[in-house]
Amino acid sequence: MKEKFDKLYLDLETDKNDIKSLSTLNDFRVKYLGKKGSLKLMMKDMANLTNEQRKEFGKKVNEVRDELEKFIAEKAKEIELIEVNKKLEEEDIDVTIDFEDELSGTRHPISLAMKELVTIFTALGYKMNEGPEIETVFNNFDALNSPIDHPSRSENDTFYFSDGLLLRTHTSGVQIRTMKSEELPIRMISPGRCFRKDELDATHSPMFHQFEGLVVGENITMSDLKGTLTRFAKDMFGEETKIIFRPHDFPFTEPSAEMDVSCFKCGGEGCKFCGGNGAIEILGGGMVHPKVLERCGIDSTKYSGFAFGIGIDRIAMLKYEIDDIRLLYQNDRRFLEQF
Ligand code: DAH
Repeated sequence: MKEKFDKLYLDLETDKNDIKSLSTLNDFRVKYLGKKGSLKLMMKDMANLTNEQRKEFGKKVNEVRDELEKFIAEKAKEIELIEVNKKLEEEDIDVTIDFEDELSGTRHPISLAMKELVTIFTALGYKMNEGPEIETVFNNFDALNSPIDHPSRSENDTFYFSDGLLLRTHTSGVQIRTMKSEELPIRMISPGRCFRKDELDATHSPMFHQFEGLVVGENITMSDLKGTLTRFAKDMFGEETKIIFRPHDFPFTEPSAEMDVSCFKCGGEGCKFCGGNGAIEILGGGMVHPKVLERCGIDSTKYSGFAFGIGIDRIAMLKYEIDDIRLLYQNDRRFLEQF
């Protein structure tokens, strides 16, 4: 045990010297405090210890974590100050420049993608419903038939408040709100922000955007889902786009599927853009689970429905060939001006 901590301290000292910017500081944080970070890995070994040892071990891990959190917060302040001073030194501000015309804004790529999705689906007769970003555990999980031990419910994955509230992890809760309060038939879409405790990297962000779709009525079948999503894919990515459905598993739909579109760069041959697959995954969907219908007071022997969820950030990244999700949230004008 002692050896492990000695090695950890040694690594820490070396890595601390390499921190030169906020981004290397973040890498450092992820390496030691992240979900798969060194401290988490060390905790795994605790199972083999005696009770006494475990206590001591836990105490030490907590100490290291507290120290690291303090170090990171202080270091962040220090780096920010250095960066601001450097910027002030480097950049001359010409107060005589007339900014009036220069500063007209542009639409953000996420807004552009969202707008296009909304346009496509409103043309198909869908209406838009918005739901709150702070959602009840019931609407976000229970009503959607999510098993009590589903990993997405864990505090490691979801931001909880007290009182049975959380930051919604997907837009699917809007389905529940809509089914409970509106008359059938339902045909609705719901775009919005979602939150998960993901480490920020090129493909993950703790805040992201989804787009939910829901149709409920008499005689709604999987063919309706397929037809609708084919129309959407062709409108979004071009008439020649092909779609592929793969079986999947979501608690709130049965059957469930994930949908890929043929790569609009290579047309399906396989290229760098699609990672050689010829296809790109863009959404999940399926037939609304009868239990979900029943939980919302809808007679599942008489009515059926389909639902789907699309990652808007992903659509924007595909459409505008953006290879790092962080660019979408840094608000760098040089990036935003391109759209
Ligand atoms: N909520 C799912 C997710 O966040 C996406 C999704 C899948 C939504 C299937 C749906 C659906 O409505 O039917 O991964």
